[in-house]
Amino acid sequence: MSDKTLWRGARLATLDGTQPWGWVERGALITEGERIAWVGPESELPAGLAPAAEHELGGAVVTPGLIDCHTHLVYGGQRAREFELRLHGASYEEIARAGGGIRSTVAATRGADEAELLRLAQRRLDALLAEGVTTVEVKSGYGLDLDSEARCLRAARALQGAEVRTSYLGAHALPPEFQGRQDDYVEAVCAWMPRLQREGLIDAVDAFCEGIGFTPAQTRRVFEAARALGLPVKLHAEQLSDQGGTQLACEYRALSCDHLEYLSPEGVRAMAASGTVATLLPGAYYFLRETKLPPVGLLREAGVPIAISTDHNPGTSPTLSLLLMLNMACTLFRLTPEEALRGVTVNAARALGLTDRGRLRAGQRADFCVWDVEHPNELSYYFGRNPLRQRVWGGKVFRA
Ligand code: NIG
Ligand code: FE
Repeated sequence: MSDKTLWRGARLATLDGTQPWGWVERGALITEGERIAWVGPESELPAGLAPAAEHELGGAVVTPGLIDCHTHLVYGGQRAREFELRLHGASYEEIARAGGGIRSTVAATRGADEAELLRLAQRRLDALLAEGVTTVEVKSGYGLDLDSEARCLRAARALQGAEVRTSYLGAHALPPEFQGRQDDYVEAVCAWMPRLQREGLIDAVDAFCEGIGFTPAQTRRVFEAARALGLPVKLHAEQLSDQGGTQLACEYRALSCDHLEYLSPEGVRAMAASGTVATLLPGAYYFLRETKLPPVGLLREAGVPIAISTDHNPGTSPTLSLLLMLNMACTLFRLTPEEALRGVTVNAARALGLTDRGRLRAGQRADFCVWDVEHPNELSYYFGRNPLRQRVWGGKVFRA
């Protein structure tokens, strides 16, 4: 008995091959277990196929499963009060320098046990899943001591319903107990890394290179520690100012540099040379009312792959809608709808170092979405509407 499942009557945006969208007008997919066994025009389906199950999709659009490649899903509390303060005139940086901002989330996170952190994060993840997310990256960075960082990463690993990739972001902010001893804190972040890795809690290492974060020299220390352990790196870079963090990250062949509003032309060249993905975060741009746009034209010209993500976090991007980010990537950053979709699929996979997902192709994971739309450009066009019909994760069907 075959364990193949046939999906037919699909309009496929495979994002594979040379056609725009990797388009197949009357397409079919065969899945076998967790993998895609075959993709192509329905007219070319292999003869003698005896699938165990069959789905007729009636012309619905199928895309790869969505990948949210930059989130801070695990934390305690929320920061609506800080939002209010900003509306009364305080800036994000002023609040951070006064000990609020990230630090207030650190206090709330330290006060929550692992079960509570998991409960909160699972609720947030469920919102992402409802819009078709099948892989999500989750960062630590609100614990800032060994036990609390480990607790957050363990909660991330325990999330259900999508594949989770974790990034260790110990170098996110200076915890109060290290006030005035920033280099000592960076040493501690490096010292905790092998222990967290041994527990299987780290897939990549991230840092916040910024005036209110860590200097390029400190970031380099963190990256050296990561390199010594064979861990890939990524970076929150050039979000509020140009620190040259991107060039540094590219020396370490970073998987991605993220935010990038203040990225220089040299930074763009460095990314192109190292094959680093530019992860743009329109939610944070919007919520901070940033006016400086990331250099999308230069990134495009240089052939730097662009990913899009929610950056879900309580301070700068409390959104839980990756579809809204598609719309914002187009309206605010002028990406095309096809670029935006590639940004949450194939390029997001690459930002996580994953090559087995992000396109519809034989051999890839059977992670895909069935949408009640006529064309995939509608995914970027609507905002505040969710046209997901079905989400297929590892060959298993989840109804929207
Ligand atoms: O990605 N930039 C640094 N980290 C987060 C914000 C963290 C916070 O404010 O809690 C970001 O924007
Ligand atoms: Fe972030």
